[in-house]
Amino acid sequence: MDQAEQLRNIIKANSMPRRPLARVITVTSGKGGVGKSNTSINLALQFKQMGQRVIILDADFGLANIEIMFGAVPRFNLYDLIYQGKNIKDIITWGQGGVGFISGGSGISNMGDLSREYLIYIIQNLAELDSLADIIIVDTGAGISDSVLEFLVASGEVLLVTTPEPTSITDSYSLLKKLNKHPRFSSNETKIKVIANMVRNTAEGETLYHKLNAVVSRYLKLPIFYLGSVPSDKELEDAVRQQMPVSLKSPMAKSSIAYQEIAGKLMSKDVSGDVPRRGMAAFFSHIIKSKKTS
Ligand SMILES: Nc1ncnc2c1ncn2[C@@H]1O[C@H](COP(=O)(O)OP(=O)(O)O)[C@@H](O)[C@H]1O
Ligand SMILES: [Mg+2]
Repeated sequence: MDQAEQLRNIIKANSMPRRPLARVITVTSGKGGVGKSNTSINLALQFKQMGQRVIILDADFGLANIEIMFGAVPRFNLYDLIYQGKNIKDIITWGQGGVGFISGGSGISNMGDLSREYLIYIIQNLAELDSLADIIIVDTGAGISDSVLEFLVASGEVLLVTTPEPTSITDSYSLLKKLNKHPRFSSNETKIKVIANMVRNTAEGETLYHKLNAVVSRYLKLPIFYLGSVPSDKELEDAVRQQMPVSLKSPMAKSSIAYQEIAGKLMSKDVSGDVPRRGMAAFFSHIIKSKKTS
């Protein structure tokens, strides 16, 4: 059996109907500092309050964002699973509010160099995440790097965070353009959902979405769905400074309420119909495949 076949078998075994797959939602943006990590954490907390089991994978390799925002230091990261024989349960840190998180460390970027036995061991371990979480949120780093694109292509849902700044809109468009060109991207397998962050009011968020959608539908012929907006909120800034997610620190803050509404929309079916659930084994084997061929 060659490696591709073994990987296929693992994925098949992990996508049997009796075994539910996690929803993998990747949060991204064209440029940094627009609120991806806040979106990841606060949506995670809102989903948790709706009774979902949630794990965040922090795939921003440069800065360990999520752990700083949670005020918790993970003992191990993905690198320890790959190279130090830790298993998946060892590398999950349970943060405030009962949300789990995994620090990517430098683990994922090195995955392409591993032997077949190793890869199979890792994918089997990561596939276990499907039984530990209903929703896995992947927080990506800034910019349009190839590894970020691989994450997007591997996810069933992409949340694109945009702000009213003109550069943020053009950067969002550039990201979608690049994603659309990716050989393995399919708009049936990956739904793109837009969140307008740091808006003055809901009308500004809607205008922002319509501007982006106008160019995306015209030049890329790509469907993008609007999830809603999060207002610019001083309470969120204060919460960040105190290393606490705003949804926990100030549940009634306007941004917390906006996150709650967006999480509610994501749990209902009316945003983009059925959500493609592909699970974690498929997610990582996608990424490894891309590393092997690049
Ligand atoms: N809705 C918001 N209202 C006010 N400030 C915000 C909001 N969202 C993000 N910010 C500010 O932007 C900073 C960067 O947010 P962060 O989530 O870390 O962005 P990213 O992960 O995209 O780099 C935060 O520290 C906060 O000060
Ligand atoms: Mg971040």
